[in-house]
Amino acid sequence: MSGLFITGTDTGVGKTVVSAGLALTLRAAGVDVGVMKPFATEGVRRGGRLVSMDALYLMAAAGSDDDPSLVTPLCLEEPLAPGVAAERAGVDVDLAAIGAAYRALAARHDFVIVEGVGGVAVPVKGRVMVADLRDLFPLPMWVVARPNLGTINHTALTVEYAQARGWDVTGIVLNGLDAHSAGVAEETNPGAIEELTRKPIVAVLPRLHGVSVGRMAIDGLGEAFTAALADGVLASLHIDA
Ligand SMILES: Nc1ncnc2c1ncn2[C@@H]1O[C@H](COP(=O)(O)OP(=O)(O)O)[C@@H](O)[C@H]1O
Ligand SMILES: [Mg+2]
Repeated sequence: MSGLFITGTDTGVGKTVVSAGLALTLRAAGVDVGVMKPFATEGVRRGGRLVSMDALYLMAAAGSDDDPSLVTPLCLEEPLAPGVAAERAGVDVDLAAIGAAYRALAARHDFVIVEGVGGVAVPVKGRVMVADLRDLFPLPMWVVARPNLGTINHTALTVEYAQARGWDVTGIVLNGLDAHSAGVAEETNPGAIEELTRKPIVAVLPRLHGVSVGRMAIDGLGEAFTAALADGVLASLHIDA
């Protein structure tokens, strides 16, 4: 089984952009990529049903024509943690069904990219959090973090927390580096994070004008992500092809 679970230090940190960038990079290398956004919130109504912009963006990047019910088995409307949104909507979160959807996608593709929701301590059902889903998604994990001041703390906490719950964190992506405003924090953070967490920074992705999940704008993302990847990262992904 090969793939990655992409989490982040926060919501809005760039999990969708990084997941889509990786999907585009793998696709360009001839890999059949599947994508999944198992717990989506902020669903938008299209033709009487809720759809996830994250899922649409990921599917466009991967060239996926999988059934949306497999890609996003749970899509909720309110912009809240999924566990909270589900409770308020009176929806039972069927974790077994979400696991089955993942296995169906994994059987169909060489590599599956699963985008988490929020960060690792976000509730998905009652007291079950993202970090508790290791058995559902038996994948290595990447952590997406911001590049600027404050990121050492959030990244170290996230890595530690995920590892304590059994995840193998194999990479950290610093996303959204703005070359114009970057200073000494952005310069020293990668080294400090690698030293503290003992995990590799697998990419530092710049802020890309023209890339937007909300506007479904993806031009140039694949090339930029490929260029941002550290040497040897693709080879380390153990693609099943
Ligand atoms: N490297 C980047 N360059 C430009 N815009 C970005 C970049 N990363 C994220 N964004 C934008 O920031 C917002 C949040 O990113 P997103 O990937 O949706 O975060 P998350 O999935 O962690 O919530 C989106 O509107 C996205 O388009
Ligand atoms: Mg997202």
